[in-house]
Amino acid sequence: MGVFDGQTIIVTGGARGIGRAYCHGLAQEGASLVIADLNGADDVVAEVEEMGAEAVSVITDVSSPESTEAMAASALERFGRIDSLVNNAAFYTTATHAPMDELSPEEWDLCYAVNVKGSWLCARAVVPAMKAQGSGRIVNVASMTVNDGTPGFLHYVSSKAAIWGLTRAMARELGPHGIRVNTLTPDYIPHDQEYASQQPHVDDIIKGRRALQRTQVPEDMVGTLLYLLSPWSEFVTGQNIWVNGGSAFH
Ligand SMILES: NC(=O)c1ccc[n+]([C@@H]2O[C@H](COP(=O)([O-])OP(=O)(O)OC[C@H]3O[C@@H](n4cnc5c(N)ncnc54)[C@H](O)[C@@H]3O)[C@@H](O)[C@H]2O)c1
Repeated sequence: MGVFDGQTIIVTGGARGIGRAYCHGLAQEGASLVIADLNGADDVVAEVEEMGAEAVSVITDVSSPESTEAMAASALERFGRIDSLVNNAAFYTTATHAPMDELSPEEWDLCYAVNVKGSWLCARAVVPAMKAQGSGRIVNVASMTVNDGTPGFLHYVSSKAAIWGLTRAMARELGPHGIRVNTLTPDYIPHDQEYASQQPHVDDIIKGRRALQRTQVPEDMVGTLLYLLSPWSEFVTGQNIWVNGGSAFH
């Protein structure tokens, strides 16, 4: 028996990294998964099926209204309901680190299209089904860079700051329909070796300021995500939960 037996959960950006760990954790608790990623997620579907859960990969561009509507339609067609949405996809590892006066307007727009508009579009696509059911959970993903004000990453940092506003306003608007909306905020998780090698000192600095002084891994995020999607957080909405090993207290 799993906590999410009989439930359909959409995980955007679930093809790799933290999203892949979310898929594994949710599958272990019985969820049927729709893995919505720009690049498809056949490998993760195979891993999840190996664990005895059902999953489907739906190639999705979260910044496109048509694509996100097709994502929701595929979920309903395959599983008949949508219980939860994890807005995890982001323009992140491929984003340029540069002084603010050197960032291009085109990359700024792309960053906002995926991180901010994309989170809204995915929610917009699933909310009709959740309203019809009278229940649903949405988790939006922010970033510790918002608290840090990380320099040289203005488009990404400000796009993730918008997530907190998105969550709060969506929580108020959707609460009367039985839909809970929360933010999950990871610290620095250097799962992509190529990306981490471009800034090798960062993990050491962040590790050093944590109460729990080790590198954070994708699996560290999973328990809190499961909590936010489960009945154990039934009266929790509009909140932000940090999972950061105590790097900062809020
Ligand atoms: N890794 C970290 O240190 C860290 C820290 C704080 C917050 N986060 C956040 O956690 C989430 C996951 O991070 P990650 O490190 O696993 O990211 P990642 O860059 O490794 O993976 C992102 C995934 O999203 C997908 N994606 C990108 N654009 C998309 C689009 N337009 N439509 C659909 N899918 C798209 C990619 O294909 C990829 O599978 C992101 O929201 C990120 O901002 C990460």
